[in-house]
Amino acid sequence: MKELKVCLVGIGFIGRQHVEAIRRIPAVRIAAVSDLNEEMIRNFCEENAISAWYGDYREMLDTEKPDIVHVCTPNWLHFEVSCEALKRGIHVYCEKPLALDPEQTGELCRLAKENGVLGAVNYNYRQNAQAREMNARIHAADGSWGKTFFVSGWYYQGYNISDWAGGWKYDIDKGGKTRALADIGSHWIDLAQYVTGQKIKRVMAEFTMVYPYRKKRGTEPPELIEVKNEDIAQVMLEFDDGAKGNLIASVAAAGHKNDLSISIDGSRYAMRWDQENPDKLYIETNEDGVLLRHAGPEVLSPEARAYGTLPSGHPVGWADAFRNGIRAFYDCVRGKEERNYATFEDGDYVVRVLEACYKSNQEKRWIDVE
Ligand SMILES: NC(=O)c1ccc[n+]([C@@H]2O[C@H](COP(=O)([O-])OP(=O)(O)OC[C@H]3O[C@@H](n4cnc5c(N)ncnc54)[C@H](O)[C@@H]3O)[C@@H](O)[C@H]2O)c1
Repeated sequence: MKELKVCLVGIGFIGRQHVEAIRRIPAVRIAAVSDLNEEMIRNFCEENAISAWYGDYREMLDTEKPDIVHVCTPNWLHFEVSCEALKRGIHVYCEKPLALDPEQTGELCRLAKENGVLGAVNYNYRQNAQAREMNARIHAADGSWGKTFFVSGWYYQGYNISDWAGGWKYDIDKGGKTRALADIGSHWIDLAQYVTGQKIKRVMAEFTMVYPYRKKRGTEPPELIEVKNEDIAQVMLEFDDGAKGNLIASVAAAGHKNDLSISIDGSRYAMRWDQENPDKLYIETNEDGVLLRHAGPEVLSPEARAYGTLPSGHPVGWADAFRNGIRAFYDCVRGKEERNYATFEDGDYVVRVLEACYKSNQEKRWIDVE
């Protein structure tokens, strides 16, 4: 198997998870990493036996000439760093959301094609065994699912409950015009579209800023900044095939940790999955009550079986899903045809859904996703 040479840009919270996940994949070498925080990155490389680090990511790309670069910087840099990599013929595995607006995401899709390289977006929740299982059940050849009637759920986190503003996510030029939706709602949108195999075609959204002004960290007395993107988004949805649904994304849900939940109601039964209990899928039936299915290979559908890497009761979860997406991308870089990851085109469409939600909140009406 050909060894793949990988570099990463941005070693904050998520960049570290990428490094851990990459190290669980065979025949891959992390050649170098880049970050602006020199002392941190030097220590990180020492502790993780990575031989080279760079302050300037362009220098890293030119010197190391990796096969793949992981873009793990804050949102506003996804576009710039991905462009630099694509133009050099380097495959890109980018954090979500792919970029700040549809103009940028469209350009990234174009550049990847023009340079003959692959692009992925790290929508890691679709890589869970039970996300694969839900997809397999909905698409079962025997028609046992029937028709999807309704798709609903939420993504609640509590990290913005205080009236302090923390960092770049509040700056619409850096985090984006939407905050709760771009940061966590985008994961749910990708998951819902992946599982159902349907695209969201129109939305009706309402945004709430729980504090109109927030205190800027590091200022005394606290400087007040106006909040321009939402803490809570409520969205009604309609899918291509006519199914309806709704999503609430909130980063001001006190006490909630990483509470992503999805419920899909079909014409014969319903399914409910919650990422904080990732190896369990609840099948709701009129005839037999609620059935619990673990993510063991002995009970998963054939299409999902490869994702159940441990017997039932040995929970596969967040870190496994994270690794699955990166591995699926690397398989395609090595020549596999089937794209078992969120492509740049998928990431582009999610940003178009976010854009439609933003417009809908402003205009107080249903908006088609363009
Ligand atoms: N997939 C997920 O579940 C998930 C979870 C959290 C965050 N994210 C995404 O990951 C991205 C980063 O989030 P985070 O929480 O890790 O942020 P973070 O602030 O913890 O880390 C970002 C890192 O990028 C570095 N950086 C900034 N500019 C740089 C540059 N020009 N060159 C090199 N390094 C640079 C910073 O120094 C920092 O170390 C965001 O886009 C976020 O949406 C995804």
